[in-house]
Amino acid sequence: MSVTHGGVGSPPSLRDGPQGAAERALAVLRAPQGDDRPALAGAIAGTRALEDDPRFNAGTGANIRLDGETIQMDAALMTDRGEFAAVAVIERVRNPIRAARLVLDSPHVMLAGEGATRFAHKLGLPDEVPRTPAAEAKYRDRLARLSEMVGKPGSDAIDWRDYWNFPGAMPPEIQAWARGGDTVGTVARDQGGRFAAALSTGGTSVTLYGRVGDVPIYGAGLYAGPAGAVACTGHGEEIIRRGLARAVYEDMSSGTPAEAAVAAAATAFPLESDVGLIAVDARGWGVAANREMAYGVAPAPAP
Ligand code: GLY
Repeated sequence: MSVTHGGVGSPPSLRDGPQGAAERALAVLRAPQGDDRPALAGAIAGTRALEDDPRFNAGTGANIRLDGETIQMDAALMTDRGEFAAVAVIERVRNPIRAARLVLDSPHVMLAGEGATRFAHKLGLPDEVPRTPAAEAKYRDRLARLSEMVGKPGSDAIDWRDYWNFPGAMPPEIQAWARGGDTVGTVARDQGGRFAAALSTGGTSVTLYGRVGDVPIYGAGLYAGPAGAVACTGHGEEIIRRGLARAVYEDMSSGTPAEAAVAAAATAFPLESDVGLIAVDARGWGVAANREMAYGVAPAPAP
């Protein structure tokens, strides 16, 4: 079976995206075409389908950063065999999760920045900037919201002018920060009872150049082991500080069902920070978030 998410904050009206991705993952789980890791192939297929959907913040729909130019993405995967691979701040690829899969077959665990981008191109991924009109509209909207926040009493906004590190000049509108983060992901259990998880993100749009979120950090964004698989979405810095996916996995490993483990983690998360989680174990699956979140499940549960 597979469970997917379109990122915390994604409205349920977009549910057809993650549902289609979950069904795509399930098709691969059932017919892995000779792949000796069907769970991994399924998790990647689900995540790749969401990277190809411009409505979600990953791959094709990845967020544009503060300067209005930069698109830097993270992706990672993990299997219950303990295999882990990731790319961080990769640019100019449509499917970062495919680059992470290529890293799994390399001598390394993670590649970052220009090295990750060159590695992906060298191994055959097309050199393309995944910039869409929807991402541009979202960027303009973020700028407008940032400008509104400036000087508001009680605002905890950070003044990004103090930290500006992009190669280009600061757009005149940039004055403060609004948080926001989302990601796409899949957890899968194959017919042999093996587990895997895969995540991909365009990161939080309002960040500095070179920022790395939770997705490629071991134990933070995703985790898989003999007890199941977990994948997160939300405020990356807070997810990293909590080693969230691994903490939820440990809970499942001590006997808590996936559904209860993700619900407890979402409830314990600071209210002011977005979080969403999906998980699968030997008996079932769970989805939880402290904001709205579009997700998919395949086979679809009985109504
Ligand atoms: N959760 C995605 C990120 O913070 O980058």
